[in-house]
Amino acid sequence: DTNSAWGGRFAEATDAFVAEFTASIGFDQRLYRQDIAGSIAHATMLSEVGVLTSDEKDQIIDGLNAVKADIESGTLKWSVALEDIHMNIEKALTDKIGTVGKKLHTGRSRNDQIATDIRLYIRDEIDFLSRELTRLQQGLITLAAAEANTIMPGFTHLQTAQPVSFGHHLLAWNEMLQRDYERLQDCRKRVNISPLGAAALAGTTYPINRERTAELLGFDRASENSLDSVSDRDFGIEFTHTGALIMMHLSRMSEELVLWASAQFNFIELPDRFCTGSSIMPQKKNPDVPELVRGKSGRVFGHLMSLLTLMKSQPLAYNKDNQEDKEPLFDTVDTLAGSLRAFADMVPHIKAKREAMYEAAARGFSTATDLADYLVKKGLPFRDAHEVVGQSVAYGIEQGKDLSEMSLSELQSFSNDITEDVFQVLTLEGSVAARDHLGGTAPEQVIQAAKRAEEKIKER
Ligand code: ARG
Repeated sequence: DTNSAWGGRFAEATDAFVAEFTASIGFDQRLYRQDIAGSIAHATMLSEVGVLTSDEKDQIIDGLNAVKADIESGTLKWSVALEDIHMNIEKALTDKIGTVGKKLHTGRSRNDQIATDIRLYIRDEIDFLSRELTRLQQGLITLAAAEANTIMPGFTHLQTAQPVSFGHHLLAWNEMLQRDYERLQDCRKRVNISPLGAAALAGTTYPINRERTAELLGFDRASENSLDSVSDRDFGIEFTHTGALIMMHLSRMSEELVLWASAQFNFIELPDRFCTGSSIMPQKKNPDVPELVRGKSGRVFGHLMSLLTLMKSQPLAYNKDNQEDKEPLFDTVDTLAGSLRAFADMVPHIKAKREAMYEAAARGFSTATDLADYLVKKGLPFRDAHEVVGQSVAYGIEQGKDLSEMSLSELQSFSNDITEDVFQVLTLEGSVAARDHLGGTAPEQVIQAAKRAEEKIKER
């Protein structure tokens, strides 16, 4: 027997292995909701333009809703012989309502159908992921406001650099995620365009109303060019690119959380319920969740490369290559959904170990720049001040003393410009409070920044 959907011109049945090899039903069944929604919009439009009668349209829509119920209750059996989600649903529909079901595919191709399904799918996932991202940002902003006065060492090259507010550090993470959110919204504009009506590649001879199906499916508009509509997947690549940036950011945060949760840093306590133990070492509490998120970033980076490679040599218009877009896209969504959920659930319960952070900030000469700035205010050129403070740091290393632990006369041995008021400048509190401008780490600035960040997410 040749294939029931397209076997007319074939002299023999498809090789069993080839049928298996070319089928996508194993994974594209995930698109059943979008596929049915697209078919309902198409049938509605066909009846409005007189291609289907109103009665035929009603039968088709009722039938599609019944097929959907069967899928959701698990009664519908997927068939590899029926290749993909489109033909599985069409067959189930025809089994239910008879010959009328065979009219659904009038003026349409699986090529515009799959392009429609994928766009609807990514659009809806962008909306879901945006909500998860917002939940994570909310958690970060709340924690940042609560920790505005918590002082930790800020690092460059992972070496102690200058004291910063822990809240300021958390708001740096929020800025990364804020840009990711904006990128998702921007990507959505190019995703939410209807390819339906492009048919196989050239359009169709029926008097279709593409604006109408676009409107019924919540698309912003119909696409311009039928060849482009069925072949292009750049919107999916763009989504994956945005996803890769999100994972890269989550991976950086993960790295810091893992470091901070170690006995050596001891800056934070992660909730027990987000950690796991060791089967041999009874003392272990491992930060598995951030470690896994860090590890999972590679999947999405890989999917981005897969999709670029998938697209790069395809001639117009549709090619079967595009069937390979689904698994990377689905795994990108799953990885993002899981990672964002884990972070959004975990972040509000991170406990800052304020004293340990403070002590760490007090080591490593973190206020050396403050001393140099102090000398500049007393009239020294900055480069000379840098040299003076460098010498006092060398002395401190030798003596095992931080700058704030030196006596006034010890400090004065490096510069006569140093007077009693220097000790105010050498405190951690004085150091952070002095960086009191937009984007600076002064606690008052951090509180204002948290308020602005909060307002931005309220506008969503
Ligand atoms: N399963 C196909 C895909 O994922 C659907 C479109 C197939 N079109 C075709 N003419 N074979 O791209």
